[in-house]
Amino acid sequence: MRRVQVAIVGAGPAGLLLAHLLRRAGVEAVVLEARSRAYLETSPHRIRAGVLEWGTKEIALRAGVGERMLQEGLEHRGVYLAFHGEALHLDFLALSGKTIWVYGQQYLVRDMIRHHLEAGGEILFEHEVVGLEGLEEAPVLLYRTPEGREGRLASEFVVGADGSHSLARQHLPGARVQQKTYPFAWLGILAETPPAAEELIYASHPRGFALFSMRSPTLSRNYLQVRPDEKLEAWPEERIWEELNWRLEGVAEVKPGPLLEKSLTPMRSLVVEPMQYGRFFLVGDAAHVVPPTGAKGMNLAFCDVAVLCRALLAYYQEGDSSLLNRYTQDALRHVWQAELFSYWMTTLLHTLEDPFEEALRQAKLRHLRESPHLQRFLAENYVGLYTSGRYADTLLHV
Ligand code: DHB
Repeated sequence: MRRVQVAIVGAGPAGLLLAHLLRRAGVEAVVLEARSRAYLETSPHRIRAGVLEWGTKEIALRAGVGERMLQEGLEHRGVYLAFHGEALHLDFLALSGKTIWVYGQQYLVRDMIRHHLEAGGEILFEHEVVGLEGLEEAPVLLYRTPEGREGRLASEFVVGADGSHSLARQHLPGARVQQKTYPFAWLGILAETPPAAEELIYASHPRGFALFSMRSPTLSRNYLQVRPDEKLEAWPEERIWEELNWRLEGVAEVKPGPLLEKSLTPMRSLVVEPMQYGRFFLVGDAAHVVPPTGAKGMNLAFCDVAVLCRALLAYYQEGDSSLLNRYTQDALRHVWQAELFSYWMTTLLHTLEDPFEEALRQAKLRHLRESPHLQRFLAENYVGLYTSGRYADTLLHV
């Protein structure tokens, strides 16, 4: 049976970043991914949020995978919050000293795959992991090859980076899952039309929340709050554009353009504790899910990887396992910070059915308009001062 140092389940942002950082430090990692490379890089089903915290951008640059992001991504110094027919501009640079980068997650995944393969890294595409054994002391992954054969891979460590529907998570003994679902979903579109404004607009409207984002000066990414059981068929193109413009009333206008993608995103929060067992660790969505408001998912995955990578390198380079032992404890700091902010943004901006909660929400919006402190809270969290910002310097030695 083949044996490697680290076996990683899943070639999403977390798995790829970890594999690449380990490789640069001379640790052998193999990534097993159930999907094909083309699916990960180009499928419309893989479109995710497109906002990078400043620390995430720094980590990508230090990992050597960020040069295309710098060329094609858009640096934004703030966002707009629209409510009661007015737009409040939050200047992140003034409020927090940092900016954000708009660059699609799927683009960064494509860049990481290319860099990792070019550096001689190994990603086994279309290899589906079907079992995890011996996680306490001598891990073995059971997988199926594209030809349908079964294989076994032994490793010193296993990392579960297989996303929100994680199989790996189910193999974590004693895991406690804390979760919350929200009574709405997002209908998202990618369209060939210039964005409604030069920065993102988060719009709270009596008809529901809407988000106006972008991928480039000619590609818009917009979302609408819809019912959790909503059907895509109920939303022909004209209805989507009309509804987006209703909710943007008095602030800006979007011009309809050809739709490239249309999808529904459920809203939930989930945290798995602990995030480790023996020689097995979870990173990214496999360990925690955030609702999309605020775009924290990939940023949080990068934080986990920064912490776990440092711990693995302390083990391999100095024989010190103390950081591995406290991985969960260290990671949960940024995890709950991002859970808090995602929950806060979600409940601040979406129309709520409960009249009491809706009245509180209106009070929160008024408070936000008046309070520089609350604006600073939002800005610091949005740019990630207490999440990726904590780790922007820790990978320098890689
Ligand atoms: C995007 C998604 C988000 O959830 C968000 O808060 C901001 C931007 C996006 O897809 O661009």
